[in-house]
Amino acid sequence: MESKEITISRGLEGIYIAETTLCKIDGANGRLWYRGYPIEVLAENSNYEEVSYLLLFGKLPNRKELSAFRERLKAERDVPPVVFDIVEEMSGRAHPMDVLRTCISSLSIYDEDPEDKSQQANIRRAIKLIAKTASIVAYMGRYRQGKDYVPPDSSLDHSANFLYMLTGKKPDEMAAKLIDLMFILHAEHGSNASTFSTLVTGSTLADVYAAVTAGAATLKGPLHGGADEAALRMMYSIGDPDNTETYIEEALEGKRRIMGFGHRVYKAYDPRAKIVRKYLELYQERNPSEEVSRLLQIALRAEKLMLEKLSKTKGIWPNIDFFAGPLYRAIDVPAELFTPIFAASRMVGWCAHLFEYWQNNRLFRPLDNYVGEVDKKYVPIDQRE
Ligand code: CMC
Repeated sequence: MESKEITISRGLEGIYIAETTLCKIDGANGRLWYRGYPIEVLAENSNYEEVSYLLLFGKLPNRKELSAFRERLKAERDVPPVVFDIVEEMSGRAHPMDVLRTCISSLSIYDEDPEDKSQQANIRRAIKLIAKTASIVAYMGRYRQGKDYVPPDSSLDHSANFLYMLTGKKPDEMAAKLIDLMFILHAEHGSNASTFSTLVTGSTLADVYAAVTAGAATLKGPLHGGADEAALRMMYSIGDPDNTETYIEEALEGKRRIMGFGHRVYKAYDPRAKIVRKYLELYQERNPSEEVSRLLQIALRAEKLMLEKLSKTKGIWPNIDFFAGPLYRAIDVPAELFTPIFAASRMVGWCAHLFEYWQNNRLFRPLDNYVGEVDKKYVPIDQRE
């Protein structure tokens, strides 16, 4: 065998797959930029619609461009009939991410002209997917709680409308800011597993719906998008803040992973986690809640212990998913919707990456190193043991 010269990069660690102008991650120093703008600046000053425009079109919009883009998103907010059926049929038995993946896939039947492969048509698809995915997630949440569909409200911006369609209440300014913040922070993150999966599917020249459905399927796992729900469930299992240290110690001794910690690229504090933590503490100060106070105490004690134990030795720091759960709970979002909201926010990143990749498309076709036998003798079935 000629396997001596073959190097296998497990998990494609350290392998570059493309050039991009979408997002830069400085993992060593915990920095992140979308199209050159620091994430802290966007989180503080921008909004999800503006960030989506920035990612899709490569520049910040002027007032007229932003207003036209908002109108296009608003016009696509309705939940189509097939989606109601899918949500109602699947919700009792399937994981919310399975329901969402199926709904996203079904949107292809509403495409005005599937044969049109132009950039303009793809932008139209991206707008449809961004707008409708948020509304679908809101309806999934309503249905799971036995509540009726809330139609979109065109006076609200994208993420505030999402919260309204989920809760039936118009969010106050602070809740609207928090949900928008989560949409911004989840909008894009380089060639992470779900974006890569989107690109792999797209590289066959399958369509946008197929590619982002692959992205949504990939996001489900607890090593990726599912970590925020898993981290919150861990905090619920800890229950009392005084149990935190024992729980973490035992988990680490048992070689279990603490969800919401560690990252393939960041070997420093994830800058998104810092922002989530800051806003969570601010919100809790202004709108104290017993549940969030307990979760925050657990989170801060777990963070302290994890930093003492693993930040220097293994480069394990909190990632965005650690404080996300308590923040969502502060604005009354149920845990099973965390990953679907991540998908709704990341839809723009998946689409923007796909369109950028298609400008210089090359089929993904890596190799694997065969280590089995060759030329084995075929034994007829009735002669086998
Ligand atoms: N808790 C405890 N130990 C950990 C953790 C953790 N969360 N993450 C990594 N380690 C340890 C791991 O056991 C290994 O130790 P050793 O060298 O003794 O075997 C070492 O750190 C290196 O881990 P790795 O698995 O080689 O690192 P990776 O780059 O493959 O893992 C990761 C990245 C995100 C899969 C991993 O850190 C993890 O499983 N974290 C928990 C899940 C999580 O929070 N995921 C969300 C990521 S951020 C949101 C997103 O973009 O999806």
